[in-house]
Amino acid sequence: VRNPRRVRILLIGAGTLGRRFCGLIARRQDDCVDRYGIELRLVGVADSQGAALDANGLDGVAVEAIKAGGGSVAELLTVGQMGMTGLELLSSVEGDILCEASPVNLALEGEPGISHIRRALELGLHVSTPNKGPIVLAYRELETLAQRRGKQLRFDGTVAGGLPAIALGARDLRGAVILKIESVPNLTTGFVLEQLAAGAEWPDAVQSARMAGVLEGDGAWDLDGWDTAAKLVILAQSVLNVDACLDDVPRQGISGSDGRWLRASRSEGIVRLLASAVREEMGSYRLDVRPTVLPPTHPLGRLGDRQMGIVYHTDAFGTIASIIEEPTPMPSAATMLRDLLEIYCG
Ligand SMILES: NC(=O)c1ccc[n+]([C@@H]2O[C@H](COP(=O)([O-])OP(=O)(O)OC[C@H]3O[C@@H](n4cnc5c(N)ncnc54)[C@H](OP(=O)(O)O)[C@@H]3O)[C@@H](O)[C@H]2O)c1
Repeated sequence: VRNPRRVRILLIGAGTLGRRFCGLIARRQDDCVDRYGIELRLVGVADSQGAALDANGLDGVAVEAIKAGGGSVAELLTVGQMGMTGLELLSSVEGDILCEASPVNLALEGEPGISHIRRALELGLHVSTPNKGPIVLAYRELETLAQRRGKQLRFDGTVAGGLPAIALGARDLRGAVILKIESVPNLTTGFVLEQLAAGAEWPDAVQSARMAGVLEGDGAWDLDGWDTAAKLVILAQSVLNVDACLDDVPRQGISGSDGRWLRASRSEGIVRLLASAVREEMGSYRLDVRPTVLPPTHPLGRLGDRQMGIVYHTDAFGTIASIIEEPTPMPSAATMLRDLLEIYCG
């Protein structure tokens, strides 16, 4: 491609996903020029310590390496700025898209993510984020702002990791009425439930999940079903077009699950923390999160312990199921590239 279109990328949050995204876009440079006519240029990255910026382009592989080694992007020679915040970065270098990959922080009302996204949209940037916090808490506000500015707010990484769960429902099922969504969008609970069903006691199952790198912190966000409920709220808002908030979702997590029930259920199928949305008369949806036995005949009845999935039951397109195996966080990180290409290549 002779004159590729340059896309200047700002990234806030360079942890598990953000740093992998930096490496990925560095490695996909030539491919994106050849296949899509897009030149990816990483012009700024912020983490909790500071930022690095260069309008001529940062080295994504160097960013990935310093973060993998436990350092800060602010330590990068000549381009690093210790103490620079994400908001300051947004006003310090011009960009075309913000990739926001800071922590969820629902207890902090979705901050700092909401402020980053709001500022980016106000400045006229597109936004891609795998961060559920801002979408659960401020979807309508941020989407309205994006539309007013003629920009796109995309968040395909917020539900079921790298699975294009939202795009499937919101884009590919256009023209159908969605009668029911069933989803297993959380990997941690599936992993723990499999350990329990195999005979492990609760503390050992949780410890195994921690050792396998699929559980962080005290685990309550995943194990008590908050993460699954948050993803259901996002599906309700963005795919089903209904207003929903976390408090609307009846939620039963897997904490303290009864191992005997799980083992007894084995003959019937696998147990997973299922998020469901069932259409009712008048077009509203009943939302629910609870551990559910999925028989082998169910489209999600053969999920492995590192798999997630979604089933859409529709009137016009029948039943469509989609599953992802996610042994590493790379698919989730790659959703920001997918969002970017969707914005620029349609
Ligand atoms: N991990 C997954 O598999 C996965 C999958 C789907 C969606 N997500 C979502 O994607 C987002 C990122 O996840 P992650 O696993 O990459 O999280 P993470 O490993 O905790 O990384 C978070 C990053 O945000 C930075 N950060 C924290 N506070 C900040 C602030 N005030 N300003 C700027 N940067 C700040 C951290 O800085 P330091 O590096 O200095 O600590 C870190 O680089 C989260 O919202 C998560 O829920 C994650």
